[in-house]
Amino acid sequence: MKILGIESSCDETAASVVQDGRIILSNVVNSQIDIHTLYGGVVPEVAARSHIEVVNPVVNQALSEANLTWDDIDAIAVTYAPGLIGSLLIGTLAARTLAVLKNKPLYPIHHVEAHVYANFLNKNAPEFPMLALIVSGGHSQLVLFKDHGDYELLGQTCDDAVGEAFDKVAKIIGLPYPGGPSIAKAALEGNPLAYKLPKAKMHGAYDFSFSGLKTAVLRAVQREVGVDFTFPSTGLAELLNKQQQYDFAASFQRIAIETLVDKTEQAYRDYNPKSVVIAGGVAANQELRRILSERLPLQIDYAPIGLCTDNAAMVATLGYYQSLKNKPISPFDLEVLPSLSMTR
Ligand code: KG4
Ligand code: ZN
Repeated sequence: MKILGIESSCDETAASVVQDGRIILSNVVNSQIDIHTLYGGVVPEVAARSHIEVVNPVVNQALSEANLTWDDIDAIAVTYAPGLIGSLLIGTLAARTLAVLKNKPLYPIHHVEAHVYANFLNKNAPEFPMLALIVSGGHSQLVLFKDHGDYELLGQTCDDAVGEAFDKVAKIIGLPYPGGPSIAKAALEGNPLAYKLPKAKMHGAYDFSFSGLKTAVLRAVQREVGVDFTFPSTGLAELLNKQQQYDFAASFQRIAIETLVDKTEQAYRDYNPKSVVIAGGVAANQELRRILSERLPLQIDYAPIGLCTDNAAMVATLGYYQSLKNKPISPFDLEVLPSLSMTR
């Protein structure tokens, strides 16, 4: 079974063909990072416009790289939730149109759930029950999967997502967008104990909060450069020297990661899952992988870095598992749901 996945929920236009939810035949990702770097973050209208320009070429490239024609494709899977509405509309409209024209079954895919399925492309698929730490630019959640499509949300962030915190802190200390990779890189040169930052205490055992940590970095930077809290955050970075910037990156990253690992370890002890996976853009963070593996008593097979950030292979993979259980949706009925959470 060969499934074409299409992804356009944020700032990547991606298409991929995956066979039987296991073998990647092609994986094309057109990133808009260069376009949005100019503005220090994703501009929704600009993102949608870029999706329009590249969605057809990206789909065609996914077919040609896999050496396939439309006759070889058994179904189409497309991200319909959550994400930026203008971005989601482009991918879903392309998929709906292709489903009608090429007469293919269509499966609607939840982007956050799809991130978890990058792990099913590993050599050994994870076993159930599976604990998933989902950490992206829009989500920070701990989810217990009992089976495909059968999951329970254990906890989530009550304010910023952890990726969002990486992006915002990077802006404060003057590192380029996207903040996650640039903080990870700067942190390699910094002292993670240089600045004392707080870990949020939450009511729910598996809930997160990252907005206080971001503000704590802001206040600590203001203190460090000798200005008060009214000083505009956009002017702070130029007052920091390189070593201070590295030390802030390392100190922030340490607390953000410890927060994630503490909660994951707690959920692991309470639910005793057979496997643990991490998913979403922040799962690309090497330090998170290192510390999680150090703290948990089981072997974790991490997905390749390129499958942690947005891609369509994960969408096609989840599409495969859905096709085994669910009926396809009519292309005339598929609507986008920009803020649908994974709890359903
Ligand atoms: O999953 P993703 O590509 O898009 C969303 O669905 O949000 O995640 C993007 C997020 C961004 O916040 C980015 O800064 C973060 O993932 N990220 C990282 C790393 N690579 C990407 N955060 C920490 N360390 C990284 N190496
Ligand atoms: Zn994502």
